[in-house]
Amino acid sequence: MAGAATQMQYMLAVIDSARAKGLSKNQVSPRTLENDTLKMVRGQDWTSGFFPGALWYMYEYTGNEKWKQQAQAYTRSLQPVQYYGGTHDLGFIMYCSFGNGYRLTKDTACRSVIIQSAKTLATRFNPVAGVIKSWDFASASKWQYPVIIDNMMNLELLFEATKLSGDSSFYKIAISHADKTMINHYRSNYSSYHVIDYDPVNGTVRQKITAQGYSDSSSWARGQAWGLYGFTMCYRETHNKKYLEQAKHIAAYIISRLPADKVPYWDYDAPGIPNEPKDASAACVTASALYELYTFTKNKQYRTIADQLMQELCKHYVSPLYMNKGFILLHSTGHKPANSEVDVPLSYADYYFIEALLRRKNL
Ligand code: GLY
Repeated sequence: MAGAATQMQYMLAVIDSARAKGLSKNQVSPRTLENDTLKMVRGQDWTSGFFPGALWYMYEYTGNEKWKQQAQAYTRSLQPVQYYGGTHDLGFIMYCSFGNGYRLTKDTACRSVIIQSAKTLATRFNPVAGVIKSWDFASASKWQYPVIIDNMMNLELLFEATKLSGDSSFYKIAISHADKTMINHYRSNYSSYHVIDYDPVNGTVRQKITAQGYSDSSSWARGQAWGLYGFTMCYRETHNKKYLEQAKHIAAYIISRLPADKVPYWDYDAPGIPNEPKDASAACVTASALYELYTFTKNKQYRTIADQLMQELCKHYVSPLYMNKGFILLHSTGHKPANSEVDVPLSYADYYFIEALLRRKNL
């Protein structure tokens, strides 16, 4: 954790220096490296909540006020996003930032932002299909109502909003989305499709396809991790055993597909393995989810695999200090089919890495 703190402190200095040189105020959060330059993104970008969230985790880990002040400042910059209905990623954006902020400070300002964000996210729910729409942009496959497995991660915001407001409609939407996802996204071996395209009028499934994976029938590594994390979280929030069973099945599938060093290639079915890029972000999400699943099951295998993943990341994936603009982990893959963000640091790899370190410490 000491190395992670040094890197994050360094990243804060890099951002301050970029601001002094005229970085736009709209560029609020770091996402990745592009040609050795720090790529900052606007609040509406799906990754904008991860750096504020990582700062909150640093505060949680150390109790040091300096992290709290930075976390508050970076979180505050996302306030306008609570009204942005153009993405399903409000859960990622607002829960990682304001959700962690509320968890650690009980600040009432965070509370109202979380509830409003959930209201905005709920506008993307179609009661006939029973799911939240992920993307608004068009595609070559001419999808009508795309829902991606990643969307399971946005449900945490809805569960939290019901707890904070007493309004059960958010909870019901989350349950409906999880139940439909369990039925439609999963194959009989508990691997997941990336995108399910629904008919928004009658709610039937039109297509089962991929966007970021190798093929429609392959297992995109981060998608498998989002599902594992999402259903484990749904069990935590509902105590419904069917979600726990689903998470256990997904874990078994992932564990059966991990390579010898445990860190996944970007897709478990990528044709050129072992000469394919790895995805450290998938490894971090998987490890963090396995630690939580271990707390519910006491199945030592989950903890052992998560420990192996973390050891490998610490040994071969961490950036040297004061390099890579302060990112903690190297070798993640964002969108391989689009040749975008391949073998780079990514803010969400760092966020789930720190979360996994904290979860391991708290076991
Ligand atoms: N939610 C986008 C991704 O996992 O790449």
